[in-house]
Amino acid sequence: MKVGGLFAGIGGVELGFKKAGFEISWANEIDKNACITYRHNHKHTLFEKDLKDLQTSEVEKVDILTAGFPCQAFSIAGHQKGFRDDRGNVFFEILRFVDDLSPKVIFLENVKNLVGHDKGKTFKRITYELEERGYTLKYKVLNSCEYGNVPQNRERIYILAFKDKKIAEKFNFPKPKKLNKKVTDFIDSETEEKYYYTNSRYYKQLKDEMKHKDTLYQWRRVYVRENKSKLCPTLTANMGTGGHNVPLVIDDKDIRKLTPRECARFQGYPETFSFPEKLANSSLYKQIGNSVTVPVIEAIAKELKKAINE
Ligand SMILES: C[S@@+](CC[C@H](N)C(=O)[O-])C[C@H]1O[C@@H](n2cnc3c(N)ncnc32)[C@H](O)[C@@H]1O
Repeated sequence: MKVGGLFAGIGGVELGFKKAGFEISWANEIDKNACITYRHNHKHTLFEKDLKDLQTSEVEKVDILTAGFPCQAFSIAGHQKGFRDDRGNVFFEILRFVDDLSPKVIFLENVKNLVGHDKGKTFKRITYELEERGYTLKYKVLNSCEYGNVPQNRERIYILAFKDKKIAEKFNFPKPKKLNKKVTDFIDSETEEKYYYTNSRYYKQLKDEMKHKDTLYQWRRVYVRENKSKLCPTLTANMGTGGHNVPLVIDDKDIRKLTPRECARFQGYPETFSFPEKLANSSLYKQIGNSVTVPVIEAIAKELKKAINE
């Protein structure tokens, strides 16, 4: 079963499918730095360009099309005018691939609130477009800490669209997995000086508010939020920019932010996945925050495989 990946980032979806036994044929990504990391770790063809400029005739036909796409609002006006006004929306680029490649299964990943986005119109439109093309949809919100055996709170919606209704009926989302790892299993006892807040103007505030070594914290512009469930807060694309959503920890030495490697661990990336040294940390944090929790993708892909082979 061959997979083609759209909006591939650093290839977390592709890695999960590969681990489940699928063959990745090709992927597409526009971001130059994400492509550097992608090529550093994956051997298959990566088309580095805007999806709008990728022709379906350039790629091999695939059975499964994946896309963790950016979510933009669809316009109502477009809906009424037969969708013409929405051509700028990347979702329509996915549909171009659906129409031309006719994949057996489409796998979509997005933020949890996709269903409520733009008062439910976005999700309604996605459902409409896929069902009109003969696909049967199944979707569920899964939290990485319940389905990936990683202590990260990350709720994402996973949508699978099946051309064959019988496979849709056979497919079940994975069952929750017992979380048997703690945040401290993912943290190095100490690291490079640049990650520490010892000389930061916020150091005193952090010292006063951060008390537990087995807990992760998050810098929220002007205050620190403790994760009371002893999980890593949702890692975000902007966590490396310094001002917001920065994940913080107390290690054996002092208070510091998580390293990109630690963040990758919380996304379930193996240690063998390597990050190119020439890339700036800000770029790595963005890539990892934008990515997926690999074991969650793997678990879904394994269930998909079962449903196809049954
Ligand atoms: C949410 S991230 C998906 C990350 C991916 N699932 C991973 O595991 O790394 C969305 C990705 O879509 C890419 N993207 C956005 N617009 C694009 C376009 N028009 N063409 C190609 N890629 C695009 C972004 O650069 C980003 O890497």
